[in-house]
Amino acid sequence: MARRKKIYEGKAKTLYEGPEPGTIIQYFKDDATAFNAEKKAVIEGKGVLNNMLSEYFMTGLNTIGVPTHFIKRINMREQLVRACEIVPLEVIVRNYAAGTMAKRLGIEEGTQLPRPIVEYCLKDDALGDPLVTEEHIAAFGWASQQDMDDILSLALRVNDFMAGVMFGIGIKLVDFKIEIGRVYDGDFQRLIIADEISPDSCRLWDIETGRKLDKDVFRRDLGSLTDAYSEVANRLGIMPKGATPMARPTLIN
Ligand code: TYD
Repeated sequence: MARRKKIYEGKAKTLYEGPEPGTIIQYFKDDATAFNAEKKAVIEGKGVLNNMLSEYFMTGLNTIGVPTHFIKRINMREQLVRACEIVPLEVIVRNYAAGTMAKRLGIEEGTQLPRPIVEYCLKDDALGDPLVTEEHIAAFGWASQQDMDDILSLALRVNDFMAGVMFGIGIKLVDFKIEIGRVYDGDFQRLIIADEISPDSCRLWDIETGRKLDKDVFRRDLGSLTDAYSEVANRLGIMPKGATPMARPTLIN
């Protein structure tokens, strides 16, 4: 069997060269990291769940006309995606105060924001993904003004879609992060949603009980992460048969 070419290994995913030029295979690992990779664990089954969940959200976005890099899921851990240049920003949309925003501004976690707030962080692990303003983005040329207009519009469309899907299964979409890819069609460039959309990069709270169903379960040691992600997958009706990942986290440092 021919060995395929690894393009990149990140914290939660590995990218391999795809079968056609311009395609990539995205492999979802079981590794979980938090606090800029200071906390690490292998959580059996997480990759399978995130692969299915990201497929579900990306397919839904494609269907309503929000372009994403997603082409198709290949197997339990892999999906075929369109190759793109990643804009070096983490685009965060918040509906309720939580995490770093709650801390930075002294707002109680869970406070509803007057409107969705979009923030940008520079994708740079060595610097701990610092918050940046549109002034920084323009001055350092990380994205053009046209890109920023498109990114804002994409981010708000993803927010409306995700908030609606979550509301339908009794979950509040507190915040989430997306990454944006640049693709070229002839003389034109377009921006699309890339990377993944999964409970690893969202805050999801049960509307009735407030139970956390996202990566905060791992960050804050609140129980089984796969139980939380499985709950989301079950409510969406996409739990893979025979893939109830019951394993407990194994701390590796
Ligand atoms: P934030 O509260 O800024 O950071 P933290 O998760 O460290 O408290 O995160 C807001 C949302 O964006 C949250 O759902 C996690 C997600 N996010 C990522 O997934 N990756 C990132 O690098 C950042 C900065 C945020």
